[in-house]
Amino acid sequence: MKILAIETSCDDTSVAVLKGGGERALVLASLVASQEKLHARFGGVVPEVASRRHLETIYPLIELALKKGKLAVVKIDAIAVTTNPGLLGSLLVGVSAAKTLGYLWNKPVIGVNHLLGHIYAGWLGGEKVEYPLVSLVTSGGHSEIILTKHTGEYIYVGGTRDDAAGEAFDKVARTLGLGYPGGPAVSKIAQTGKRGKIKLPRPMIDENNFDFSFSGLKTAVTRLNGKPADIAYEFQEAVAELLASKLFAAVEKYRAKTVLIGGGVAANRRLRDEVAGLAEKRKVKLIIPEFKYCTDNAAMIGMAALSRTSSLKGEKYKWYNANVVTD
Ligand SMILES: Nc1ncnc2c1ncn2[C@@H]1O[C@H](COP(=O)(O)OP(=O)(O)OP(=O)(O)O)[C@@H](O)[C@H]1O
Ligand SMILES: [Mg+2]
Repeated sequence: MKILAIETSCDDTSVAVLKGGGERALVLASLVASQEKLHARFGGVVPEVASRRHLETIYPLIELALKKGKLAVVKIDAIAVTTNPGLLGSLLVGVSAAKTLGYLWNKPVIGVNHLLGHIYAGWLGGEKVEYPLVSLVTSGGHSEIILTKHTGEYIYVGGTRDDAAGEAFDKVARTLGLGYPGGPAVSKIAQTGKRGKIKLPRPMIDENNFDFSFSGLKTAVTRLNGKPADIAYEFQEAVAELLASKLFAAVEKYRAKTVLIGGGVAANRRLRDEVAGLAEKRKVKLIIPEFKYCTDNAAMIGMAALSRTSSLKGEKYKWYNANVVTD
């Protein structure tokens, strides 16, 4: 099955072409037109600006992805597109493009939940998932732990009570004068920071649940005096410890055989190492997407669609939903 996938939920316009079915896929093309520079001067994403840029970029990017993936329109079996969550104006650009092309080309269109996409980014490496699976989606807008006992079932077991981890990284970067996006900048200067110079709390770490709180941590950073590199070091330590400890508490409780992390913050080297160490200790299979598939991309949306739709070959224009999230 060959799929054209579109992702425009926030500030990256992304289009991918995938070939596969079930839980296997080959990415034939994966393009991301980043709006990072456009929003940098505002210190964050401006929704109206993001939608307008998506509108300018989406069709040329689709054309380029089909060319790079060597996929003729007649060979497309389905179009996948992110439907939610995200910025409304941004999502509308992708959904309108997908529906328009689906109607014109007579191809089925599959709506995909963005967070499922971040989980399915883990499938792009071709590794086999053994269930139960516990996933941590940690990104600019979310930090959630999801339990999957069987394919297609996603149970929310815990998450942030306030800010997402990525949002906290972005705000700490702003406090330290490091610009936007914050995650990579904080993690870069943390490399020169020293352990023990700064002490930050680990909110909720001892509570018997799978929830997080990052807003207090972010506020604590604004009150600190010290070298930005030392602050960044300790902040990154705190976030990595908090995320990993709750994730592995869930792994233990649900006797997970596989643990997966996805979303932009999963690109953080310190978090990846912390999670890898714990997975090895507990003898749980670990899946972490390649760096380029942690932040927003359409390949993960195509993968999520493919996992649910191997029967769509030859279908005509129709709206399908690969969006089922149960709790
Ligand atoms: N190396 C890194 N370390 C820490 N955080 C990072 C790193 N790279 C990216 N991030 C953070 O990841 C976030 C972007 O991730 P992503 O693109 O998945 O988020 P989003 O799509 O905006 O949010 P959501 O997926 O919740 O809708 C930003 O907050 C960014 O600071
Ligand atoms: Mg995202």
